[in-house]
Amino acid sequence: MPDLNDIGEDIVKSFTAIAKGSQLYPGTHPAIMTPLSTVTAIIKEIHKKREVVIFGILNGLLHIEDFVFYDESAVVKRFISQLEEKNLVSVSISRGFTSDDLLEALSLIANPDPSLAQTGAIRKELKKKDIQSITVVYVDEDDILERAKKVHSEAIDVVKATFDEVRLGQIPRAERSRKVVKDIVDIVFTDHNAMLCLTMIKDYDNYTFNHSVNVSILAIAIAKSLNISEKDINEIGIAGLLHDIGKTLTAKSIIKKPGKLTEEEFMAIKLHPENGVEILEKMRDISTNVKEMVHQHHIHYNKNGYPTVPADFQLNPHATIITTADTYDAVTTLRTYQAPVTPKDAIDIMLRFEGKHFEKNILRKFIEILGVFPTGSFVRLDTNEVALVTKQNVDDFESPVVKIVIDREGNKLTDIVETDLRDTDGADGKKLKSVVSAVDPTFIGINIVDYL
Ligand SMILES: [Fe+2]
Ligand SMILES: [Fe+2]
Repeated sequence: MPDLNDIGEDIVKSFTAIAKGSQLYPGTHPAIMTPLSTVTAIIKEIHKKREVVIFGILNGLLHIEDFVFYDESAVVKRFISQLEEKNLVSVSISRGFTSDDLLEALSLIANPDPSLAQTGAIRKELKKKDIQSITVVYVDEDDILERAKKVHSEAIDVVKATFDEVRLGQIPRAERSRKVVKDIVDIVFTDHNAMLCLTMIKDYDNYTFNHSVNVSILAIAIAKSLNISEKDINEIGIAGLLHDIGKTLTAKSIIKKPGKLTEEEFMAIKLHPENGVEILEKMRDISTNVKEMVHQHHIHYNKNGYPTVPADFQLNPHATIITTADTYDAVTTLRTYQAPVTPKDAIDIMLRFEGKHFEKNILRKFIEILGVFPTGSFVRLDTNEVALVTKQNVDDFESPVVKIVIDREGNKLTDIVETDLRDTDGADGKKLKSVVSAVDPTFIGINIVDYL
């Protein structure tokens, strides 16, 4: 990786030259082409080691990755003020970007049009041009995890209120679900890791509500990775949120029963997809797509689940996304009748049902998002430390980004910093720390909530 001490200034110089040039000349002008090809080559070099190159402002100082510009030259100052004018805190360039993508992003940053200073405006423009390799974060969304937490708890409130209304014999409104799903989709598009971490918070007392929100989040994350249209992703999110709404009509004694269900009780449970559709039919503005997904979430890919359907039944193409998210959340949760399995074991179990309960492509994508050691799970390192997985490294799933929460002597840590397990010892290139195994947090008395 090139040493940013030497070339940091060159990168910023190129950025500002491209930004300035883009407001004066066509993209083919040498005043743009020369710095553009220089900086593209530098970033591609960094991409050999890092999946994403992030530059932005931290405590008023410009940084590129870990390199901070303490000495502010005129170019650095100018670049900071351009980012500030657009309310941006960071810009991330992912592997696979093209110099055209970079030119587009920098010209948006330099464009004096005041409408581009609004939160989300540049992201929208990049999306319009189908540029996925460059993403931006705005000042007011800086703490994505805080935003994610807020939306997560709002979503739980929405499900609770909706289910309560059904129990009281009222017809719930769909707007609230739609709005909160839109917020979840926004966050998943900005940084799905933050939202995925939250699905690992298992609230045993509010299982059904919590489960509904988790299924919605996981289904949205899968749908996003499958490049499904945003309209469909929103519908998948709503279906996830309401997939078990039919359980409001199942006797509480059955839902909460510890231990094995009798044949009769199981029959009663099996009615919940159809009951769910009946409820959704009465609600306004619930699309056929959503109703089909709710109806079909237990039918399974091979159509051997419930309700029983003829062999030639056409499954909604998104139904098994809900099935996949639903199963994963259910098996990783401790319930009265079931010990939870670790996320890693859950994936192993689910792989046995690939092509049966789950469609192969969907399941594979899901595993890819979660990683070998899923985001939000705990792992033991070869240093005997215990860590929480906070982010996947797509170029190396075995070495995610983690927060070490228990030191090698077994003490819980309070000062927690993120560690990238790809980091190597400069001398021999060996990884400093690596994952040995998944850890069940209930056995070592740790709770994910304390570390987010
Ligand atoms: Fe269900
Ligand atoms: Fe469910």
